[in-house]
Amino acid sequence: MPTTIDAKPASNKPEARPLTFAQAIAKGQTPPPAVHPELANEQPVVTIEDFCLYYGQKKALFDINMTVPNGKVTALIGPSGCGKSTLLRSVNRLNDLIDTVKITGKMSLNGDPIYSRHVDVIELRKRMGMVFQKSNPFPMSIFENVVYALRIDGENRKSVLQDVCEKSLRGAALWDEVKDRLHTSGLSLSGGQQQRLCIARAIAAEPEVLLMDEPCSALDPIATGKVEDLIHELRGNYTVLIVTHNMQQAARVSDYTAFMYLGRLVEYGPTSSIFTKPILSDTEDYVTGRFG
Ligand SMILES: Nc1ncnc2c1ncn2[C@@H]1O[C@H](COP(=O)(O)OP(=O)(O)O)[C@@H](O)[C@H]1O
Ligand SMILES: [Mg+2]
Repeated sequence: MPTTIDAKPASNKPEARPLTFAQAIAKGQTPPPAVHPELANEQPVVTIEDFCLYYGQKKALFDINMTVPNGKVTALIGPSGCGKSTLLRSVNRLNDLIDTVKITGKMSLNGDPIYSRHVDVIELRKRMGMVFQKSNPFPMSIFENVVYALRIDGENRKSVLQDVCEKSLRGAALWDEVKDRLHTSGLSLSGGQQQRLCIARAIAAEPEVLLMDEPCSALDPIATGKVEDLIHELRGNYTVLIVTHNMQQAARVSDYTAFMYLGRLVEYGPTSSIFTKPILSDTEDYVTGRFG
């Protein structure tokens, strides 16, 4: 008979192991996200509370709770179809344009409700900049593209427009390339320059948050590098929420990263922690390429 003095008492129950986030979702649950403590020290610009979104019968976002910190670049990552674009478009109510969309929960921009019957959506959208996958300069000069929002607001003083144009193009790291041809068409620029022009146009309006949906996905690697450098440099001066399916890009440009999966926020924290010491095994599996 072997001695059993040091042996652990035999248990007839299997050890209770917590479900992974993905296993909990598979059981129809929506576990709370793992939010790193650093976020508590940030000043929120956008606050999202218990936000759900349905496309008809299909639920696309499940109880999203997160804040977008002031003056930081926050990346939304996750597999294709997990709801990144849906969440981004919900912030400036672009999903309102789809009849079947229903939402529950709350969002606010610097304390002002985004979803309230009394909100003037046009005025709300003026407070946010949006940069899409494909650059969309207006068919007008570089100068007029940049000062577009000011013109709409009735600003016609040449010196004001010139100052804003230069400041915004410098801010978008495009000034040196275009300063001698401000009056040529925005459409004459290369793809990467057009995307930086769209960023200049967005920042000229001094938005409280800049929303970007995969802004580099139509660009070649060199143009991508320039736009990534620019986004990284916007830190401090602008609040950016950027969707990317490219994890290297998230790691390069962002201060904070939010990992989404099947319409849920899974983990949210400083980018370096998300990529090197995430709290959840689900996040680790995703960022190391084991799934998704
Ligand atoms: N206009 C739409 N109508 C119906 N379903 C949509 C629409 N847009 C997106 N979806 C669905 O919502 C889910 C999330 O999509 P999306 O936000 O585009 O994901 P991601 O940007 O992460 O790839 C997907 O299942 C997608 O098919
Ligand atoms: Mg998308």
